Amino acid sequence: MTKELVIVRPDDWHLHLRDKDLLPITVNESAKSFARAIIMPNLIPPITKLIDAKNYKKRIMNALKPNLSFNPLMTLYLTEETEPTEVKEGFLSGVISAVKLYPAGATTNSQSGVRNFEKIKPILETMAEIGCPLCIHGEVTDTKIDIFDREKVFINTVLDKIRTDYPTLKVIMEHITTKDAVDYVFSGNENLAATVTTHHLSINRNDLLSGGIRPHFYCLPVVKREIHRLALLEAVVSGSPKFFLGTDSAPHLDHDKESSCGCAGCFTATNTLEILAHIFEEQKALDKLELFTSINGAKFYGKKINSDKIKLIKKNKPVRFPEKISTPNGEITIFKPKFETKWQVQV
Ligand code: NCD
Ligand code: ZN
Repeated sequence: MTKELVIVRPDDWHLHLRDKDLLPITVNESAKSFARAIIMPNLIPPITKLIDAKNYKKRIMNALKPNLSFNPLMTLYLTEETEPTEVKEGFLSGVISAVKLYPAGATTNSQSGVRNFEKIKPILETMAEIGCPLCIHGEVTDTKIDIFDREKVFINTVLDKIRTDYPTLKVIMEHITTKDAVDYVFSGNENLAATVTTHHLSINRNDLLSGGIRPHFYCLPVVKREIHRLALLEAVVSGSPKFFLGTDSAPHLDHDKESSCGCAGCFTATNTLEILAHIFEEQKALDKLELFTSINGAKFYGKKINSDKIKLIKKNKPVRFPEKISTPNGEITIFKPKFETKWQVQV
């Protein structure tokens, strides 16, 4: 029997579109399903100034096919030199919707990020005052800390301090991966929320490492034990307004991922909603999918909920997605979990 699900058009609250030749591909893959996305600023060089954000937005809009609509919500990359006035002007004029904090060295193109958290205090104070959300890559970068513990240690040594100092600052803990983060977000006030990715809901560290290393399952923060994946699942199907979708779809060319030092990032823009419908149905929580993909994030960011809808149809057979997408610079592998989905977005 065909099943249908109609939901408010989703938003993606954490997305990497990259630049130049890749834009016509990444932008349109996301625009097929998503109305808006928070655009990550970790380009080379990063988007640290309002003028960079404005120009990047223009390039994104120029890459959008005329039959699609998409609203990129721009962010500024926080450095120790960022001026509070720049953030204030950018947020109040609507040029940016958030500021992104990368601890220096935590992930792809994060070298210009923050080393000394004391230095960003004036920015955080301004952001708390004007209501500008702070998106945080929540991992410590100390190489002595085990990579599987970096999120937990960040919560205890950095994040909790920021939140105690600025309880009115809107904080999004991005792409959470642990039960520790889920518990921390649940325990926080209404100014604390988290994004969860498609891949962290789909795979655990066995999928990444057991029976051979799977470079296309490698992302940061790295996937954890099954108990952590289950905690993420429980959080997203709970319907709590504190959890919403940020795909962290982060394309890298296959030759950069399948290498002796492979890049971190999973490309999930193409099939995220199909995968999520499968996961939520398995959890008997299809009725909570819309909250996660289309409602909670908009409310937290103080944005209008989208007025249009999308329809997902459940087919009789598993839906096949292309394995790769071709770009002028090489191929990109589309994330493929170990399960199949019968759901498909009707375009
Ligand atoms: C992202 C990228 O490639 O830009 N990679 C990733 O594994 N998630 C950066 C990030 O969000 O950490
Ligand atoms: Zn990311």
